[in-house]
Amino acid sequence: MDGREIIERCRLLAQQTEKPGAITRTYLSPPMREVHRLVRGWMEDAGLTTHVDAVGNLRGVRGDGPRLMIASHLDTVPDAGAFDGILGVMMAIALVGQRPPCAVEVAAFAEEEGVRFGVPFIGSRALVGSPVMDNGVLAAIRDFGLEPAQIPDAVVDPDVKGYLEFHIEQGPVLDTLGLPLGVVESIAGMSRWELRFAGKANHAGTTPMELRHDALACAAEWIGLVEHVSQNTPGLVATVGKIEARPGAGNVIPGEAIASLDVRHAFDEVRERALNMLLDGAEHIAHRRGLTVSGESRLDQAAVPLHFEMVEEAVESAGYPVHRMVSGAGHDAMILAQKVPAAMIFLRSPGGISHHPDESVREEDVDAALAVGHQLLRTWSPE
Ligand code: GLV
Ligand code: MN
Ligand code: MN
Repeated sequence: MDGREIIERCRLLAQQTEKPGAITRTYLSPPMREVHRLVRGWMEDAGLTTHVDAVGNLRGVRGDGPRLMIASHLDTVPDAGAFDGILGVMMAIALVGQRPPCAVEVAAFAEEEGVRFGVPFIGSRALVGSPVMDNGVLAAIRDFGLEPAQIPDAVVDPDVKGYLEFHIEQGPVLDTLGLPLGVVESIAGMSRWELRFAGKANHAGTTPMELRHDALACAAEWIGLVEHVSQNTPGLVATVGKIEARPGAGNVIPGEAIASLDVRHAFDEVRERALNMLLDGAEHIAHRRGLTVSGESRLDQAAVPLHFEMVEEAVESAGYPVHRMVSGAGHDAMILAQKVPAAMIFLRSPGGISHHPDESVREEDVDAALAVGHQLLRTWSPE
């Protein structure tokens, strides 16, 4: 398999979607079945013995003894591109197809993005023994024909001695520098919350402005604060990417607004300080407007250093410059790093575009990543 074929496979999987005309494939949604069927066939062709674990991760092993796990995810954000996650899985299968001398496990995680339940890493968390046991998640597992009682069996095998993930950069750094590949030295920490602003719904035509308790207007003021704080804190990124107004009619003052919050920084102290400021700010704004606000944490993930030394030599011997970088995006590697030495290689994202249908990858960069992977697998030995 070469870069062209890997890209073709990613594009083929992109046709499996919940939403015709777009690429949307959330955790254990119906199109995931056909994705499993296709990917499982490719895994078996590559010599992997496969199974689907109890949270829906597709796993395959080739060889005995200490093994390297190569993995990424199969789910997508709404209206996604074809490569985020999927490329890493296709790369892993292509590398196994080259019959490496070491044993390999490929994991195609069922969920990384956190779209369906607002909680990311449902797939990889099961491997490190901290599964997401939310009732909705358990019901989705049963609906897909899997058995939640078997979740403990999904935990990573003691024979897995290292973790490697290939992923598109999803940002502009490598493209700007004119480099095909990057070596990830750490992944920024991430907090995800859901906030609920509670006001009072009423008639949009008859309620004077000064008598309103508009939950959406309150949330909007707070979103302004989120932007202001992140613009004024170096390195901080904070996003309200989802908002719902209830009851949700043009002629009804919103009585309730539910907003997501995603806060990230390479330094955990800065992220935590900013998060507290934003949560306090929501209280303050709601109080001033005569509303209430409550919040629930969905993820509190510390920044994670990666084992860049595990891959740098392979990058060099394959003839590519080594460029170390911090990942602003979250990846399954940050979860597996709790158990085994984990490394990541980024592939340039043309135009820095990701989480968008225009997301792409260059064929020659996939070939470069394959050459590095090949080199790494020839020489990899457990620490
Ligand atoms: C995953 O794409 C994330 O960083 O949210
Ligand atoms: Mn991803
Ligand atoms: Mn993503």
